[in-house]
Amino acid sequence: MILNNRIALVVGGGNGLGRAIAKVYTREGAIVIVADLDYDAAVETLTQINQSDKGLVYQVDISDAEACRRLVQTVVDRWGRLDILVNCAAISLVDPILEVTPERWDKVFAVNARGAFFCMQAAARVMIPQKFGRIINITSPASKSGFPFFTSYCASKAAVDSMTRCAAVAWAPYGITVNTIAPGRMTGGMVDTIEKEMMKLTGKTEEQLKAERTRDLPMGRRVTPEEVAEAAVWLASDAAAYVTAERFNFSGGMELS
Ligand SMILES: NC(=O)c1ccc[n+]([C@@H]2O[C@H](COP(=O)([O-])OP(=O)(O)OC[C@H]3O[C@@H](n4cnc5c(N)ncnc54)[C@H](O)[C@@H]3O)[C@@H](O)[C@H]2O)c1
Repeated sequence: MILNNRIALVVGGGNGLGRAIAKVYTREGAIVIVADLDYDAAVETLTQINQSDKGLVYQVDISDAEACRRLVQTVVDRWGRLDILVNCAAISLVDPILEVTPERWDKVFAVNARGAFFCMQAAARVMIPQKFGRIINITSPASKSGFPFFTSYCASKAAVDSMTRCAAVAWAPYGITVNTIAPGRMTGGMVDTIEKEMMKLTGKTEEQLKAERTRDLPMGRRVTPEEVAEAAVWLASDAAAYVTAERFNFSGGMELS
């Protein structure tokens, strides 16, 4: 139980990787608070971690910076502190690069970059006086690659990489570590939605696309959210106290640094 009684807020914990992290954090003894735009999905995560306390689940739209602040405040009002923040919520809109509109660009940035930033800022305001904190931002190999169907997503994840480094340096004197995990292409989660959009744009079938987008992975398979979640345990643990500003690649060789 390496996270015993740690108060952990998983933003975007209603699905995919966020749900997997909520599960491993619970296994390791943390008190996990699940926040998501999709309330029902967050409640389902709660059920899957065998919790019935509805005080552990919050509906939030992180594209509203004030809502990020309120979310953290509500957690602190109830639990007295916040030890771990996982910024997992994100969206990806599929647009050929010449068809990206300002509205769709802003929509992606509002969640992936601005939302992650203001959750992180609100958390740090609590963690600084505590002199302890672990912030884990979820980035993507997309932040360093050129995927022309996902320019806004790629750029928003590059913003996550950058803000992680700035925050890590700013808050290092206060016992707060800030790192990213970059999962490779995962099973389930947002990839399913993305691939449906890509099918419309490319005319390819689901089987064709999935085969194509798995063949190019060195391991010949996609990573599961459960595999990636284990990295979030270690980064949140006391063992990782001196690890900050790092990008933890969990892409099975998809991204070479
Ligand atoms: N799926 C992949 O292959 C992959 C690869 C690399 C990185 N990632 C990153 O991993 C993270 C999780 O991805 P996933 O595939 O599990 O995604 P997912 O779509 O299954 O889960 C994302 C969650 O974020 C929530 N969310 C979306 N907008 C929100 C908002 N405005 N406010 C609050 N919550 C909001 C959704 O409701 C959803 O529950 C994301 O940051 C994603 O960018 C995913």
